[in-house]
Amino acid sequence: MEETNKNVLGDCFTSAMALTESGVPHVPTRYILPPSQRPVLSPSIGTGSINLPVIDLSFLHDPLLRPSVIHEIEMACKEFGFFQVTNHGISSSVLRDALDAATRFFDLPAHEKMLLVSDDVHTPVRYGTSINHATDSVHYWRDFIKHYSHPLSKWIDLWPSNPPCYKQKVGKYSEATHVLHKQLMEAISESLGLEKSYLQEEIEEGSQVMAVNCYPACPEPEIALGMPPHSDFSSLTILLQSSQGLQIKDKNNNWVCVPYIEGALIVQLGDQVEVMSNGVYKSVVHRVTVNKDVNRLSFASLHSLPMNKKISPAPQLVNEDKPAAYGDFSFNDFLEYISRNDLTKQRFIDTVKKNKF
Ligand code: OGA
Ligand code: NI
Repeated sequence: MEETNKNVLGDCFTSAMALTESGVPHVPTRYILPPSQRPVLSPSIGTGSINLPVIDLSFLHDPLLRPSVIHEIEMACKEFGFFQVTNHGISSSVLRDALDAATRFFDLPAHEKMLLVSDDVHTPVRYGTSINHATDSVHYWRDFIKHYSHPLSKWIDLWPSNPPCYKQKVGKYSEATHVLHKQLMEAISESLGLEKSYLQEEIEEGSQVMAVNCYPACPEPEIALGMPPHSDFSSLTILLQSSQGLQIKDKNNNWVCVPYIEGALIVQLGDQVEVMSNGVYKSVVHRVTVNKDVNRLSFASLHSLPMNKKISPAPQLVNEDKPAAYGDFSFNDFLEYISRNDLTKQRFIDTVKKNKF
């Protein structure tokens, strides 16, 4: 029997975790993707043919060697909108602690997690499953807790109080990613030929949403997904994963598996950087596959300008030859969009483009 719960709205709610724990031999029908959207889970995909960039950030702090790191970042942003970073300044114990707190959270009994359930995208702390379990036509094999994280003191009291270590461990990781995001945005601005301090204040005071994702082991990974293809609304998303599962779309529209690298963090360009760069860089389209054997966890830290601050193409990157290709948008505009639209039908960034054809 599936373990189901009524949420505050009275809808039935079954987490992916509850399905896995109950040992279902098949995924329920609502998780089955149309054949054209199913992942190909061949182990050869993504290995060997394409080397995704891994950038050592230690030289970012060396004035002589910084330009070569900026160049590597520029190449990775142009080619993939994606790279992994090592020597990023966040210690392995902070990463381990964050993953430990998330494991304990998702292992809690259902009624405990249901205290935070909400399908209102404006709720600052919310537990859920799939993308939006109330409206999704196909469901995704994912449970999540999402919470606002910056400034930490404003939000942390609303975070889960169970497990008791959650606030402290995830709080430390959130603060560390906020600092890393600032450093990465300085590098990205430089790589675009902008001032290192471009939008410095807005980035410092920017919003941060931590999406903590749990993809439990799935009995039929070849016909389901953990997340559908999408790009993030963020400037950058900094992602910590416990094992492999993420795939990105390359320029030839092929899905490429992102390898798991112990201690590394993944950096994905989001829609805000695509707009800021006037399309010089593109946000990366990605999806999440699931597997039969292990529960996979990830922390996707989505950084952006403050809630109501609109991002627009940098004036320095707009001229007669390259007119502004995008309008402007804020994080709040994105929330309004997803509360009314299905992201799998039309990408948000396409609604921001000036030339829609
Ligand atoms: C996201 C996301 C990827 C992952 O939360 O937006 O794309 O590997 N997550 O969990
Ligand atoms: Ni994403």
